[in-house]
Amino acid sequence: MDRSTTVAYTSTQRALHWITALAVIALLAAGLAMNSVGPGPLMNRLYVVHWSLGVTVFPLVLARLAIRFSRPAPPLPADMPGWQRLAAHANHWVLYAILLVNPVLGYLTKSAFGGPVTYFWIVDLPPAIDKNRALFDQLSSVHIVLGFTMIAAIAAHVGAALYHGVVRRDGILSRMVTG
Ligand code: HEM
Ligand code: HEM
Repeated sequence: MDRSTTVAYTSTQRALHWITALAVIALLAAGLAMNSVGPGPLMNRLYVVHWSLGVTVFPLVLARLAIRFSRPAPPLPADMPGWQRLAAHANHWVLYAILLVNPVLGYLTKSAFGGPVTYFWIVDLPPAIDKNRALFDQLSSVHIVLGFTMIAAIAAHVGAALYHGVVRRDGILSRMVTG
């Protein structure tokens, strides 16, 4: 596709961005809370919220990537320094990579722990692999490290978005809001 024909994110891309963003922020909040409230009904509920939002995000990310590979991002301002372009691209692809890998890893982690993945108290999704305590420990470590890497990437991402929207006012924030 000719890059010059992409002038803006489509409304579908923008909707998918904000739905994913809200779901990811909520699942991270639930993830941090579920491991600090201590065992009990609240912890169990937070786990179900975390799994369910993670499972929901996965097809949304597949849809986003399918659109993104057929339609390049609109070009960045011509006067943007090279390191900022590089940082923006690296940040976006790190986010996409973790968005793609971590729901799968999380599903495997929960499966290795044992029992189904309850989806919003509606349906119990079957475990993908057999219960395995040693594997659970390993999968869980990778899942958590990637989760915290994502938190750092989101912090940089939101900081940059606000810098563009409030300090530079160069249209980068508004093209993901109003198009
Ligand atoms: C984008 C998707 C996801 C992200 C970014 C993510 C992130 C995280 C983070 C940051 C933690 C650590 C919380 C803490 O220790 O304070 C965590 C824990 C966990 N997540 Fe996810 N998660 C995602 C999807 C999923 C999914 C889909 C499932 C299961 C179906 C899942 C299952 C788990 C489990 C079982 C733990 C607890 C691991 C343990 O305590 O050893 N996650 N997740
Ligand atoms: C809530 C605060 C957020 C704000 C203000 C925000 C803002 C933006 C903006 C303005 C862009 C467009 C950048 C450009 O056109 O070059 C963008 C792109 C992107 N955002 Fe966010 N975002 C937020 C949260 C998130 C979260 C939580 C995620 C994922 C975990 C995320 C993932 C992405 C990705 C992957 C892109 C690249 C889109 C593409 O070109 O394919 N964003 N964001």
